[in-house]
Amino acid sequence: MTALTTSPAWQQLSELAQQVKTQHMRDWFAGDPKRAEKYTTAVCGIELDYSKNLINTEVLAALQQLAKDCQVEQKRHAMFAGEIINHTEKRAVLHTALRNYSGKAVLVDGQDVMPEVQACQQKIKSFVASVHSGERKGYTGKALTQIVAIGIGGSFLGPKIMSETLKPYWFAGVKVHYVANVDGSHIHDVLSGLDHEETLVVMSSKSFTTQETLQNTLSAKAWFLKAGGSQADIAKHFIAVSSNIKAATEFGMAEDNIFPLWDWVGGRYSLWSAIGLPIALTIGYANYEALLQGAYSMDEHFQTAPVEQNLPMILALLGVWYTNFFDAQSHVLLPYYHYMRGFPAYVQQLDMESNGKRIAGSHTVVDYATGPTIWGSEGTNGQHSFHQLIHQGTVLVPADFMLPLSVENQDNTHHAMLASNCFGQTQALMQGKTFEECKADLAGKGLAESALNSLATHKTMPGNKPSNTLLFDKMDPHTLGALVALYEHKVFVQGAIWGVNSFDQWGVELGKELGNQVLDKLVNSDAALNFDASTNQLISKFRKANP
Ligand code: F6P
Repeated sequence: MTALTTSPAWQQLSELAQQVKTQHMRDWFAGDPKRAEKYTTAVCGIELDYSKNLINTEVLAALQQLAKDCQVEQKRHAMFAGEIINHTEKRAVLHTALRNYSGKAVLVDGQDVMPEVQACQQKIKSFVASVHSGERKGYTGKALTQIVAIGIGGSFLGPKIMSETLKPYWFAGVKVHYVANVDGSHIHDVLSGLDHEETLVVMSSKSFTTQETLQNTLSAKAWFLKAGGSQADIAKHFIAVSSNIKAATEFGMAEDNIFPLWDWVGGRYSLWSAIGLPIALTIGYANYEALLQGAYSMDEHFQTAPVEQNLPMILALLGVWYTNFFDAQSHVLLPYYHYMRGFPAYVQQLDMESNGKRIAGSHTVVDYATGPTIWGSEGTNGQHSFHQLIHQGTVLVPADFMLPLSVENQDNTHHAMLASNCFGQTQALMQGKTFEECKADLAGKGLAESALNSLATHKTMPGNKPSNTLLFDKMDPHTLGALVALYEHKVFVQGAIWGVNSFDQWGVELGKELGNQVLDKLVNSDAALNFDASTNQLISKFRKANP
């Protein structure tokens, strides 16, 4: 048993969960007309209605006590202060410095990093202006209107998904194409339609060692040279974003074309750095800065709001409640806004690569659940796909619904229908439909009693399924920045409670290492096979299909 699961707060939460499981949210709403108001709070353009959760005053107090016992506030201070909290990689965690508009210094190894952060922001700003104005041209004098952004994981998801979400803010003069997968069809499909003379390749890799990104960039170079460009022209058409300046220059990137980032910025927390360059190229620097300022506003809120009004704390504690006391294995994100269709995938890496861990502290194997599976899709599509399971399945799937209250250039009928589905779903999940209500619906339809009872049983909706509803005045850059920071800090609070290191990712190393060993056998088809029988068999089949 660990200190966490034997703590008084944990024991109290276990008891409270047993009590809550005998009650129904339907009755709580009926008994307290002010429940919705009581459990709704708003900040940074985001309104959170968390009243449709399996909580009451006592539960919230016990969750807040758990956070206090786990020293979440002290750990939060340590992060913002630049302490070495990523203890396995001996690094600070300071993505917050990238959007620090306080005017205060941020020290790493006693050195204020803000001057170099701001210098990089200026480099991004002038680069974006030079591309958008047409001042920066390709080797034949054409403006660079097609951007090919190559990267994967945090070097892809942030740029692509933030840009997709902010479509109403796109700069008309450029189009950004994303390439991530090493599957050759991805880069082939992107490059095949482009004119190399007006194409700029932005290669993003914090480590500059990621196989997919290196291979895709090599293929892009080969495409450029084959299309008529020369080695001397590369500098006009290829730039890099990396913390590994040495590897980037050895790869052939001109030093002046390298945008730096730092080891105290984790990949899944890096969109605020020059990794976000494709975002700035897509929406313009002013909008990109608004994104950073939105995140900064959430940072301020997270550091100053009392726990009961603190949005990251509330979301985090609700997640702990369901993960650890209701055996919820996953959490679903349901943005009711087509442009946010990628948001679940963004939070998937942010949350699962941060808290998908099993070791607490320096070496303790946890005896409790940690990071949940994060999934989801845009609403209303999910209603016609997986909502059945959430309504009537045997597992609890807490849900975050999201909706901008106002949207640009849209027929109000469509938006009202979208909103009605969003609200209707949260209502159905909460109140369900009883057996008696189903029977009453079926009465008078000529069904025999046994058939009627059977059908009513199948149609019964248990309800009592928890959901949060996040409303945005509008999904603009500032709000999106605040929303992403909200989820970053939710992940931080949960990691602090579970005692895991949310900022390393050792779990991805073995697959890469073994993959490279297999690659060697695929490239050298005569090489002896010395893996397990299954892997050997798979390699043999591939060799046979690709002689
Ligand atoms: O999946 C492992 C990982 O290191 C992620 O954390 C990171 O975002 C991605 O690979 C890409 O890494 P890099 O930016 O170094 O190419």
